Amino acid sequence: AANGNKPGKTRNIIEKMEESNKNCVVFYGSQTGTAEDYASRLAKEGKSRFGLETMVADLEDYDYENLDTLPEDKIAMFVLATYGEGEPTDNAVDFYEFITGEDVAFSNAADPPLENMKFVAFGLGNNTYEHYNSMVRNVTKALEKLGATRIGDAGEGDDGAGTMEEDFLAWKDPMWTALAEKMGLEEREAVYEPVFAITEREGLTKDSPEVYLGEPNKMHLEGNAKGPFNAHNPYIAPIAESREIFTVKDRNCLHMEIDISGSNLSYQTGDHIAIWPTNAGKEVDRFLNITGLLSKRDSVISVKALDPTAKVPFPTPTTYDAIVRYHMEICAPVSRQFIATLAPFAPTEESKVEMAKLGSDKDYFHEKISNRYLNIAQALEAISKEKWTAIPFSAFIEGLNKVQPRYYSISSSSLVQKQKISITAVVESIEIPGRDALKGVTTNYLLALKQKQHGDDHPDPHGLTYEITGPRNKYDGVHVPVHVRHSNFKLPSDPSKPIIMVGPGTGVAPFRGFVQERAAQAKAGENVGRTILFFGCRKQKEDFLYSDEWNTYKEALGDKFSLITAFSREGPKKVYVQHRLQEHAKEVNELLLQKAYFYVCGDAANMAREVNAVLAKIMAEQRGIPEAKAEEIVKSMRSANQYQEDVWS
Ligand code: 2AM
Repeated sequence: AANGNKPGKTRNIIEKMEESNKNCVVFYGSQTGTAEDYASRLAKEGKSRFGLETMVADLEDYDYENLDTLPEDKIAMFVLATYGEGEPTDNAVDFYEFITGEDVAFSNAADPPLENMKFVAFGLGNNTYEHYNSMVRNVTKALEKLGATRIGDAGEGDDGAGTMEEDFLAWKDPMWTALAEKMGLEEREAVYEPVFAITEREGLTKDSPEVYLGEPNKMHLEGNAKGPFNAHNPYIAPIAESREIFTVKDRNCLHMEIDISGSNLSYQTGDHIAIWPTNAGKEVDRFLNITGLLSKRDSVISVKALDPTAKVPFPTPTTYDAIVRYHMEICAPVSRQFIATLAPFAPTEESKVEMAKLGSDKDYFHEKISNRYLNIAQALEAISKEKWTAIPFSAFIEGLNKVQPRYYSISSSSLVQKQKISITAVVESIEIPGRDALKGVTTNYLLALKQKQHGDDHPDPHGLTYEITGPRNKYDGVHVPVHVRHSNFKLPSDPSKPIIMVGPGTGVAPFRGFVQERAAQAKAGENVGRTILFFGCRKQKEDFLYSDEWNTYKEALGDKFSLITAFSREGPKKVYVQHRLQEHAKEVNELLLQKAYFYVCGDAANMAREVNAVLAKIMAEQRGIPEAKAEEIVKSMRSANQYQEDVWS
């Protein structure tokens, strides 16, 4: 484990537990923060219900060679997300390779090495992917093989079915029972103990230069941000251009060009760009209002972790406003467990009872809260209009996720525009009965930036009031914080190889980049192979993305390029990309026999799955082989990277 060896910090987990008096470590492997959040929740619950001395640990912060010396009276928990095609999350790569390796090299040579270790495990996965929850499955297997004792079942949460939260809740209760029995723990009346101490800083105001108003780190605060720009340190990038690319009034799709020149950021065609969002002012106000913090929004506070192993998830001193606007995921649907935690702080007896009921009754919670996707402040408002002033602010820091950057498939080619990254994003607005439309946090922020850039008279049609100029007005409204994430979704290195792309809706994003690139290669005289794009949208005249660009690419690529469209709402019957694929079965099959690369981008839950099935069907028919055999071939294409997906749910 060679990662991030910070001076003064031990990478020895046993030593760390000893010196901080811990008997339970919750390791997490997390990419977008969900697994990390579940890990903190487990740690908290272990402490408040069973008096365990818990700590949370990022897998990449420690070495594992001495896990065999974990004393018998201690417990290790693993919360592990599976990423992409069954891969470990970035922070878990080293651990995964170590623990599943052929010859696991522990420091002592006990036999079996982990006979003293007791562990529990929960995985976060998505059943629309083939290697569902492979991380937790493989790690559990590896630990058991090394002699460790699993307590309770290894849980599996399914994001694909949208049941992650309930899967987690259903897993953890029997796990706690089994653990309590095994370790002789006594359950006690859960008492809330804040993890963070908040102090008001009388001497400081929001204009004091040392106060963070949303700046992600010290360099940004001091106005000398410099690279490397990454998931901890965004680049405040100029938006070179932004425009609307739907021709209908009721829906928006943004095309933006983000200028990365001078940042030292680089990208490759098929990569993702991360956008660091800001919460809408409307939701910030709602939150501060219902929690009784509105009048104190600009008070300067310091936040200190009372437990030395807990981390304050944002820089301080800062203000309530800045925390809520830039660092807390206040717009996400609220979790049932969080509601249960807050019950003791309800403003009235009635609301206390209601909170307890919501916390313990899954169906009731669904009916009242989660089927309307209420966020924390909306839920509190719905339960009682009184101000919820008794909730310690620490409970929000502990219970709400920290804002995560959102990833978008880059829609330009790095060969064509090395210094400018294109994004293509539909502005999310979902009608839900019983409430106002659910507004996507990041895409509506981007929309506000676009409106501002165009000097729109009505820059804020939905009253969301984004703070688009950033902390201390440093971003001036035509900038956005970003970084780049490299992906494995890549064109074949040999451009003469044929490719087939399936990308309805904004799933077309990376393929605009792919086609752009192949067109440039053809222009430069390279031998470019057959290039077929299946694109689908509602109506030719409404949401046909980049309709005027495809002809330019066609001029460069000639007969090599075909764009095959499926307009779903123009005839009496729905026509989708997979129907078009079926109509072109013969050519698709022939190209695959010539080792064409096959790409799918867009909706994971239905589209990508159906395309996979249709492809197998096509091969079975065309090759005269059983469907089961064809499905095997599709699987092996996936393993060989001949079939690549960039999908989201
Ligand atoms: P629809 O909304 O008319 O059903 C981009 O969103 C395009 O993908 C739209 O034309 C949409 O059609 C279509 N689409 C919806 N569900 C799909 C599915 N399961 N497979 C393929 N395309 C789908």
